[in-house]
Amino acid sequence: MSTTNLTQHRLRAGMVGMGMIFDETYRPLFEQLHAEGLYRRDFGFVEVELAAVASRTGSRAERYKKQAAGRIADFASFAGRDAVGQLLAHGVDVVCVATPDDRHFEAARSALEAGKHVLVEKPSVLSLDELDTLQALADKHQRLAKVVYHKLADPDHKKLRTHVLEGNLQHVNNGYCSLLEPKSISGTQFAEWITGRNPGTYVACHYIKLIDFTFGPNWRLSRVHCTGQRGLVGPANGPTWDSVQLQTVYTYPDGREAAFDIHTSWVTPDNFPGSVEQEVQFRFDNGVWNAHQRKRGVELTIEGRSPGEFKITPNHHYNGTFIEPWGQRSQRGYGIEILRRFFEEVAYVEFGGPEKERARRLEEMNALSYNDVRADRNTVAIVQAMEAILKHHAAGRPGGMVEVNSAAGGLVLWLPGEREPTVLYAGRV
Ligand SMILES: NC(=O)c1ccc[n+]([C@@H]2O[C@H](COP(=O)([O-])OP(=O)(O)OC[C@H]3O[C@@H](n4cnc5c(N)ncnc54)[C@H](O)[C@@H]3O)[C@@H](O)[C@H]2O)c1
Repeated sequence: MSTTNLTQHRLRAGMVGMGMIFDETYRPLFEQLHAEGLYRRDFGFVEVELAAVASRTGSRAERYKKQAAGRIADFASFAGRDAVGQLLAHGVDVVCVATPDDRHFEAARSALEAGKHVLVEKPSVLSLDELDTLQALADKHQRLAKVVYHKLADPDHKKLRTHVLEGNLQHVNNGYCSLLEPKSISGTQFAEWITGRNPGTYVACHYIKLIDFTFGPNWRLSRVHCTGQRGLVGPANGPTWDSVQLQTVYTYPDGREAAFDIHTSWVTPDNFPGSVEQEVQFRFDNGVWNAHQRKRGVELTIEGRSPGEFKITPNHHYNGTFIEPWGQRSQRGYGIEILRRFFEEVAYVEFGGPEKERARRLEEMNALSYNDVRADRNTVAIVQAMEAILKHHAAGRPGGMVEVNSAAGGLVLWLPGEREPTVLYAGRV
């Protein structure tokens, strides 16, 4: 039976940003969806196609068109200042935003305003005001607004949360996480937009979200502290950060506190044995969880080729290329799975039952706290606090601390030596 007899359901996707993450995760997903479509019993068969892309110069899109040769249908490519506007006018149902993190908001806002479902890379946005705007637009236009935090789909993290939910691991007290990116990220890959940016916003957000999602919501975020180092990516007194150490503190209803240290960097040597160094430890009332996200049990050495071309400690769970036992080439992993799941959520809202029940289906998907913008408030609050502390540090006022939901406001920055705080966000986080 041909698939065209099965359905007329179709989702046309628009992609904003065609950089590294597009190539690693969106590209293989769109190629799989082009070849196989999307099927689930509740919404049936849905064609999903990459219909249009928007990027700064359009050069990667052109290169991809040539290379893709049959693995994907033809798509429109828009470049330059009004690329997003043109993409929206082209007729898409869903927009994925994978631009640098300080350029997520504009693209996501205009896509929601145009009535598109939106998926945005982590961290969703850099301030709670921006998050409020996206939430309000998603409500107004009755569309999904979701964020990609692929680490929540890592089988190890799923198991951690399962242990917590089942009560095997009880009451987390503290922990640390580290994520160190190679120098090539700050020096080459992101050179165009690195000035004024920091690795904390780029990757600490993965662990901020993991902690908030896995151990919450029966506690409240209380304080954010942060410091960092400069001098390698940019000048020692400039606004661009090499490494960042963040501490977040939560308070349980009985007054006990939990504290987490998250260390990030993008100046680790390029000949490091893995793609990124990633490690976590969480301590509970009755146990300890240790996970090395890089040393997952495989160690590989190939003369003259590792650790450059082939990493010594690869992570095949995130996104690996394989020849399946049945001969097919494939690319799979939780980095791709989490994007596929978003398309399933959109398909469920639009095609998962009668139109009169669409609002209920939308509400059901909005309630998923792992990826909905409504559940991203603590993560965005921490990112906003971290950015503000670092900005003041770079301006000669280090050592700031942000209090959350105090009498003075939702996000309140205290700087050493200053009697009055600065309110970063007046509403409740
Ligand atoms: N999920 C993950 O683990 C993961 C990994 C890497 C990156 N990311 C996220 O994905 C986003 C992009 O990262 P990347 O590594 O692909 O970056 P990149 O620098 O490789 O690519 C950025 C892309 O955005 C485009 N772009 C920049 N400004 C634009 C604008 N105003 N309008 C339209 N297009 C624009 C550029 O042309 C380029 O195609 C970031 O938010 C990053 O945090 C996520």
